[in-house]
Amino acid sequence: MDLAKLKQQVISEIQAVHTQDGLESMRIKYLGRKQGLVTKLFEKIPSLSLVEKRKQVPALNQLRSQLEKAFKDRESLLNPQVGAPTEKKLAFFDASLPGSPPQSGHSHPALQIIEEIKEIFHYLGFGWVDGPEVETDLYNFQKLRLYKDHPARDTQQTYYLNEELLLRTHTSNMQVRYLESHKPPVRMLFPGRVFRREAIDATHLPDFLQIEGLLVDTESSLTDLLGVIDFFLKRLFGEKTKTRVYGHHFPYTEPSIEVELLYQGKKWLEIMGAGMVHPEVIRNAGLDAKKYHGWAFGMGPERIAMLRYGIEDIRLFYNSDLEFLKQF
Ligand code: PHE
Repeated sequence: MDLAKLKQQVISEIQAVHTQDGLESMRIKYLGRKQGLVTKLFEKIPSLSLVEKRKQVPALNQLRSQLEKAFKDRESLLNPQVGAPTEKKLAFFDASLPGSPPQSGHSHPALQIIEEIKEIFHYLGFGWVDGPEVETDLYNFQKLRLYKDHPARDTQQTYYLNEELLLRTHTSNMQVRYLESHKPPVRMLFPGRVFRREAIDATHLPDFLQIEGLLVDTESSLTDLLGVIDFFLKRLFGEKTKTRVYGHHFPYTEPSIEVELLYQGKKWLEIMGAGMVHPEVIRNAGLDAKKYHGWAFGMGPERIAMLRYGIEDIRLFYNSDLEFLKQF
């Protein structure tokens, strides 16, 4: 048997086959374990003379491995997923290249601001706790002296769920809630989402974040509050930060103030509302207003983030644009 001729014949047959099934039956025809033509040639070896064996055995082995390789090559050509993928992939793998870092998210810029605020106030001995977003009219308004017909309710257009239940319009709902169940001294922050029936524009959203601060103790004063606000805003915006304060009105604080921050050395911008907790609010929480006094403040983390990063449209925070959010 002319092995070279046989090899030529098989290889040209392999080149002509175009399906995997066809290739497989051809492989069985020549290399099949029982009936394969080339396999059968091996069966004749025992009857050969020693001289013949020395010639035939290496030649047959060579033929078999050449054909095996030809089948394999053809198979990986017909189906690139099998065959010899490791060799091919290794050729493209450069172990010296830097890997691509795994994708990971991070917290939202407004939440990052809340975390920073918590940290600054933690230094002053404040803890923090969440509160309910669905609230009663009682805690959101009435216990804060915003009675049913109070005109100041107009400044916080409200989503009512029914006569008594609403979506809280501010985190001040936590003042009486917290004081009812925790005896002073109290130093707490209440971060969370609030809701107002606002038309959406560059500075208004129907739901946004607030963070409330509350201190109630046997001793506390407006000057403490002013000192704390100054300390806090310097920590948050830098030691050179200038703030100013003027009288305002909230039904639940007396006196009430509003705090402004000098923005980019040019413009005074309102940053928070605050004041001494009204004695009636202290009493509404079941505490003795002669013994306990306190102060409270409230501010908006999105607004702070806008000031810090020079963002002019609050909507950018919530349209889930990753290119925007990735920057923080
Ligand atoms: N609740 C006020 C607001 O939403 C802010 C505030 C909180 C004012 C606490 C005084 C004291 O605008």
